[in-house]
Amino acid sequence: MKRFLSAVSVTCLVASVSWAQEAADGVAPEMGSVLSMQVPESLQNSLKSKISGEPTKAKDWMVAAAHPLAVEAGAAVLRDGGTAADAMVAVQAVLGLVEPQSSGLGGGAFLVWYDAQTGEVTTLDGREMAPLAATPRLFLGRDGEPLKFFEAVVGGRSVGVPGTPMLMQEAHRKWGRSQWPSLFDAAITHAEEGFTVTPRMAASVARDAERLASHPVTADYFIPNGAPLAEGRQLDNPEYAASLKMMAAQGAAPFYTGKIAADIVDAVQNASNPGVLTGVDLALYQVKERPAVCMDYRAHDVCGMGPPSSGGLTVGQILGLIQPYDIAGLGPDSAEAWRLIGDASRLAFADRGRYMADNDYVPVPSVGLLAADYLAERAKLLDGSAALESVAPGAPEFDHALHYADGESYAQPSTSHISIVDSYGNALSMTTTIENGFGSRVMTNGFLLNNELTDFSFRSHRDGVPVANRVEPGKRPRSSMAPTIVLKDGKPSLVVGSPGGSRIIGYVAKTIIAHVDWGLDVQQAIDLPHLVNRFGTYDIESESAAMEFGEPLTGMGYKVNARDLNSGLHAISVGRRLQGGADNRREGLAYGE
Ligand code: GLY
Repeated sequence: MKRFLSAVSVTCLVASVSWAQEAADGVAPEMGSVLSMQVPESLQNSLKSKISGEPTKAKDWMVAAAHPLAVEAGAAVLRDGGTAADAMVAVQAVLGLVEPQSSGLGGGAFLVWYDAQTGEVTTLDGREMAPLAATPRLFLGRDGEPLKFFEAVVGGRSVGVPGTPMLMQEAHRKWGRSQWPSLFDAAITHAEEGFTVTPRMAASVARDAERLASHPVTADYFIPNGAPLAEGRQLDNPEYAASLKMMAAQGAAPFYTGKIAADIVDAVQNASNPGVLTGVDLALYQVKERPAVCMDYRAHDVCGMGPPSSGGLTVGQILGLIQPYDIAGLGPDSAEAWRLIGDASRLAFADRGRYMADNDYVPVPSVGLLAADYLAERAKLLDGSAALESVAPGAPEFDHALHYADGESYAQPSTSHISIVDSYGNALSMTTTIENGFGSRVMTNGFLLNNELTDFSFRSHRDGVPVANRVEPGKRPRSSMAPTIVLKDGKPSLVVGSPGGSRIIGYVAKTIIAHVDWGLDVQQAIDLPHLVNRFGTYDIESESAAMEFGEPLTGMGYKVNARDLNSGLHAISVGRRLQGGADNRREGLAYGE
């Protein structure tokens, strides 16, 4: 595909569309960005690679993340003999400072881990949890209709129990080698001495200024003296430094039973649109180790995050549905390849909307959804040459009685992704989030609190039939985050993930297909323009070569929508050497030695 062609007309024909899902996608995304920021001297080669479209190469270890200072902190840990889990702690601590709109100590994350010693893949679920006092009506108005998105998001109502601090501690406890307190050094230094506000952060603040102004603590930080933080400004965050020092000294405990926990409860209960979170909710929180969800795809094992994320199952279904077709032979320039991928994605999203939720509350047919015979039968639906007129959930094999209605939730394109391979051969893929850009806009102790509860379906029932992803006390909202490790012959071959709301699934699937089927290196696979279809409308990346597909896809019967698709893919391929790629659509880098 050639990049940057002029726009072609992208008028609409109707393929069947789920009105509710389409409406739920109507809210504007988090800001994209161009790379025009200060990069530490030691990472200049990575910057050159990224700009030239070459992967970054290394022998022993590599880290790819959304901000150069976070990459620098992770690299220092890996260089000193730390593991990928150690490096993740350092990376996350810095990201919470320099990319506060996307992830942080007030949010949640999912982590996929390949253990070089055992050869096994496992996952950690650090997803936020609904308070015990939350009910299925949390996001319904007095009239029983769903609230408007930002009415639900801004304030205390949307805040779930954060999982990220405990996940950092748990990953270090299981797989770390470095001294825990040392992992916070870089973040504390930057928080005390200041860092440079990036173009993306400044643009995000400017765009959200009105909502950020609605909470005084948040306004003081992001809009000091009434002026949104400008690009290039030096910004310190002494309160964040104090939180990190407490975490370095005491672990995650202060966030769940200590001073910070009390401040979180106070902030949530006294915010506008107050929430029902209590100290008991925080004290009860646990990170859960869960089995990875793996899909056999063209002699690879694609392993990702199972419920409460829909990421692993939906990426797995897309790959399983295109498996019978010659995607490699068709190649990335073929509209037919994108028809197959797009309609496979629609079929997978139909199952996602019906069946996927927190399986500690709802029996999710995870095995049935990835069963070879189920997918082979469903793949026959793709046999034609035009867009499917309508798409409905299938009937996977299931060992519980089941009757659910389709959900209606908004998953916003915020979030951040970290990929790391260490010198011991371990691999880590972690997607981390506070949900919407700037989360709930409620801030305490130098970090923002998430609005993750709005990842639940706002509508609890349809015609008396419950939605699987409805709010329930203590439940975790369904996610689209898809941290993934692809294995070949039992060893990691690709570590990948992205932010991007429910489009994460399409971004990750595309990158795997581009690498496995089309033989692109990681940077080429990331750079390949996006075409994503979830609910009928084919989103194609504006100002890219994807625009060439507007006419052929329209001719096949798709409604086509050209738009900014700001993924933030970070990937590492593992072969004789490590090769890293970072998404040009955001500000991250890959670096290794
Ligand atoms: N809040 C983004 C996700 O979990 O999918």
